[in-house]
Amino acid sequence: MTTSPSPMDITIQNPIETTAISHDLSDGNGVALPSSSPSPILTHRKFLVSVEVCLKPSSTARVEDVRLAVERMLEKRSLSYVDGPIPVPIDDQFLFENVQRICVCDTDEWVTNHDILLFWQVKPVVHVFQLSEEGPCEELGGDGQLSSFNDWILPAKEFDGMWESLIYEFGLKQRLLRYAASALFFTEKGVDPFLVSWNRLILLHGPPGTGKTSLCKALAQKLSIRFNSRYPQCQLIEVNAHSLFSKWFSESGKLVAKLFQKIQEMIEEENNLVFVLIGEICDDIMFFNIQY
Ligand SMILES: Nc1ncnc2c1ncn2[C@@H]1O[C@H](COP(=O)(O)OP(=O)(O)OP(=O)(O)O)[C@@H](O)[C@H]1O
Ligand SMILES: [Mg+2]
Repeated sequence: MTTSPSPMDITIQNPIETTAISHDLSDGNGVALPSSSPSPILTHRKFLVSVEVCLKPSSTARVEDVRLAVERMLEKRSLSYVDGPIPVPIDDQFLFENVQRICVCDTDEWVTNHDILLFWQVKPVVHVFQLSEEGPCEELGGDGQLSSFNDWILPAKEFDGMWESLIYEFGLKQRLLRYAASALFFTEKGVDPFLVSWNRLILLHGPPGTGKTSLCKALAQKLSIRFNSRYPQCQLIEVNAHSLFSKWFSESGKLVAKLFQKIQEMIEEENNLVFVLIGEICDDIMFFNIQY
């Protein structure tokens, strides 16, 4: 057994391979829901571990085909699961031609004290995505003024690696991701927000420069990857709050109304998941909405 920081082949035998029962802890979108006792030594259930597969920009392969190929590849290999890259197998021509990288993510949700998850304890949940290279689309304000918002197609190349680069106390990012994933899950299942107290709003507050805006963008990127089978189109709108204020009487109200009308048009498109980030006020607010 090894404690190397990246996943690698191990030779340990699986003592319970034939008796392990898989308890599906997922919310149906491959996002692991909290377990009551997430101890990695439990042998009667498997831990859902996200495996993110980034396609090459040139790839035209079907996401489903790549997902199946990665699942087959993972089944064949006796990996230890810790956060980090898994080498793309050079002997698999299909994967080698189409896949840029394969990464194990967020295993620290399940493990403590530098334990590692072994392949027989894990059910990998594979998410395949391709980064958008389009960059932000700026919406110009009236009279060539400051644009009122920037709009990105997610997952965007610009935000690649941002989630991993943000360092917070242990488990904070995972809790935030689980909270947002649960909110999306509740929406999908039609849970009434007035009966069960929840909403699709996240307010991050803290001193300047503590990563609030970056965390919002990274979270939106993460959710766009984790939920891409349910919501194939995903956008992030970053509202430029300053541009909404005008020295002209009643003009600010009109600018805000125009902005929300545009957002409404976006969410009316079926299967479009839209994140709206409003920063630079005092705290960062992000909300997301889905139109059925
Ligand atoms: N916890 C962190 N880990 C890694 N990088 C961080 C962290 N917090 C801030 N940064 C980096 O600091 C820079 C500023 O972050 P960001 O603009 O997201 O902060 P903010 O809280 O939105 O600031 P402000 O309150 O001024 O709007 C970014 O480059 C970000 O990556
Ligand atoms: Mg900010």
